[in-house]
Amino acid sequence: MVESVSILGSTGSIGRQTAAVAEHLGLRVAALTANRQTELLEQQARRFHPEFVAVYEESAANALKIALADTDVRVGSGMTGLLEAATLSSTDCVVTAVSGAVGLKPTLSAIREQKRIALANKETLVCAGEIVMREAEACGAEIIPVDSEHSAIFQCLSGRGEDPYRTGSRNPELKKILLTCSGGPFRGRQRSELHDITPAQAVRHPRWNMGAKISVDSATLMNKGLEFIEAMRLFAVDPDDITVLVHPQSVIHSMVELVDGTVIAQLGVPDMGLPIQYALTWPQRMPSMFDRLDFTSLGAMTFEAPDLVNFPCLQLAQDCARKGGTFGCVMNAANEEAVHLFLKEKLGFNQIYDVTAETVEALGADNADTLDVILDADSAARHFVHEKIGA
Ligand SMILES: NC(=O)c1ccc[n+]([C@@H]2O[C@H](COP(=O)([O-])OP(=O)(O)OC[C@H]3O[C@@H](n4cnc5c(N)ncnc54)[C@H](OP(=O)(O)O)[C@@H]3O)[C@@H](O)[C@H]2O)c1
Repeated sequence: MVESVSILGSTGSIGRQTAAVAEHLGLRVAALTANRQTELLEQQARRFHPEFVAVYEESAANALKIALADTDVRVGSGMTGLLEAATLSSTDCVVTAVSGAVGLKPTLSAIREQKRIALANKETLVCAGEIVMREAEACGAEIIPVDSEHSAIFQCLSGRGEDPYRTGSRNPELKKILLTCSGGPFRGRQRSELHDITPAQAVRHPRWNMGAKISVDSATLMNKGLEFIEAMRLFAVDPDDITVLVHPQSVIHSMVELVDGTVIAQLGVPDMGLPIQYALTWPQRMPSMFDRLDFTSLGAMTFEAPDLVNFPCLQLAQDCARKGGTFGCVMNAANEEAVHLFLKEKLGFNQIYDVTAETVEALGADNADTLDVILDADSAARHFVHEKIGA
């Protein structure tokens, strides 16, 4: 179990839940960061007494500096601030709860300082997973998944093969991953019925209360596509070793089929607090403050194949996963920009796929050897989307 945490994205959905879990476990909070929500960040700073806070937006950071002038909390800004929060010598675990590829550089810096990474920010692994996992292995840094599906897979693999099982290597007892998916708020609908979906409708998820970007990704099924690539990187498996299964009740958070045909599942209430806590206490388990599963009131658990025709983002992500190179990175960046434009009502719901697919087609490339190639591909994809939409 870790003793202190830096929470990158502490004002978001995962970040707030992480702060509550850290308080419950009695962990020291070393650093907190946000993009621009300074009011909440100030409240968190006064409650958790971190030594350092960072706000990505410069002007918001200046406002926070003034607000916290009566404390001894240091305030940083921009990418430099995120990097400092990720590498403080007084922290032993960095929770990456920012949304988007902005999490990549701080994650790599924390890995180089051998921090434990409690990884919520899946975009980092989609964008540059091979480089990140290679670096983690070279530096001896632990990457523990926070995403509920990947935490479930990790828990199912723990204690099998080498003990404790670590991410980044293929577990010798693993045959296949069964990645579960709620199906999102529009499961069962035709693509032709989705063109006038509004941001308010798209962010209303039936099972999980999440940030806006991941909620839209869940509605398009891009989230499952990102998780597909995340699972390949974390567990060192091929695309053919992962099957996506729609399980609308979200009670089973994912499963593994072992080489002898046994299937192991991880079940729990749909509450992100549980995988967050496990990432902080691993390899131990500690009592938690969360609800328990009541099997007598569960009802039926159902499973079906995902609808790749009406929700083509998942197919696109699987294709990009197979192609490798910069395809995942380009897809991730284009999707991120398209989702932001959709949330600002500058793009229709179905256009998120159209624009992302067009960007992948135009810019995806086989070579992704260095971080510079990845970062260039990421910014070219964002530029392409904005040129295309004229936004
Ligand atoms: N929510 C979930 O249940 C869930 C489950 C599994 C995985 N995840 C993953 O966890 C990550 C966070 O998701 P979330 O739902 O917690 O998102 P969220 O509620 O939107 O929170 C995002 C956090 O990141 C900060 N942030 C956003 N853009 C930033 C930037 N450019 N620079 C620095 N900080 C920035 C935000 O600051 P402000 O508040 O100032 O904007 C906020 O603290 C995502 O990668 C998501 O895919 C989330």
